[in-house]
Amino acid sequence: MPAELLDGKAIARELRDEVAAGTARLVARGVRPGLAVVLVGDDPASAVYVKSKGKACEEAGMHSVTIRLPADTSQARLDAEVDALNADPAIHGILVQMPLPKQIAADSVIRRIKPEKDVDGFHPVNVGKMLIGDTDGFVPCTPAGIQVMLQRTGVKTAGKECVIVGRSNIVGKPMVALMLQNTPQANCTVTVCHSATTDMAAHTRRADILIAAAGKPHLIKRDMVKPGAVVIDVGISRVEDPSSASGYRLVGDVAFDEVREVASLITPVPGGVGPMTIAMLLKNTLRAAERTVA
Ligand code: GUN
Repeated sequence: MPAELLDGKAIARELRDEVAAGTARLVARGVRPGLAVVLVGDDPASAVYVKSKGKACEEAGMHSVTIRLPADTSQARLDAEVDALNADPAIHGILVQMPLPKQIAADSVIRRIKPEKDVDGFHPVNVGKMLIGDTDGFVPCTPAGIQVMLQRTGVKTAGKECVIVGRSNIVGKPMVALMLQNTPQANCTVTVCHSATTDMAAHTRRADILIAAAGKPHLIKRDMVKPGAVVIDVGISRVEDPSSASGYRLVGDVAFDEVREVASLITPVPGGVGPMTIAMLLKNTLRAAERTVA
């Protein structure tokens, strides 16, 4: 029997409704949560994500600011934008869309954002808190969204083998930290595979929960997946497709049609993890704003 779909869109909808209700309560107390999204350059995929983030914010009743800067923006100019947003009381969350152009040191920009406005959870202070299990910080939106999706679908994680493919700072590494915690919604035995892993299939075949976040279209094939596994596909790559109106289509890291035959639950691409990322961003922004009124 083919796997059931893990419907990220539906769970994200629930979360966004909860965030909208929380936002309305906070607005009644005189504070409208505000999110600033900064986009440097004109990468088409990033432009699409940034637009969705702004739209989702407005739909939840939040204040939304999008700052678009040219691809040749200097580090000093971007630093000045971040400083202004750090100082702006109407802005509770700041997100600088990654990747950034080569002339900009991304880690320096991340460190410049005040940890209490770092709704991406990328600042070393928030990364450190997440690693030690201190829930007071912000957790990166994609891994946090995956954890919530598993929880709300009733997937048992404690004692399970969780294999993560990919070690990015945005998904793979924080995903490890989350699934490793001694909490009911985690408590997994975690393995991470990456570009230097010699026999990836030997690891992925042991996974009860397989999280693919390598950014490599269709990397995970049917024979790499244990029958009955829960498969989460974080990948979203554009591949050429002359039969589509746009000339491309979006594909994940998982060969969906064949893996669906062996998995028990699987996320589609698009419509799986992506909507959860945006929902968690709104949740983090609401939390950042709530904290200003304590
Ligand atoms: N690029 C891809 N995913 C993300 C994300 O979650 N946050 C930011 N800032 N950039 C990204």
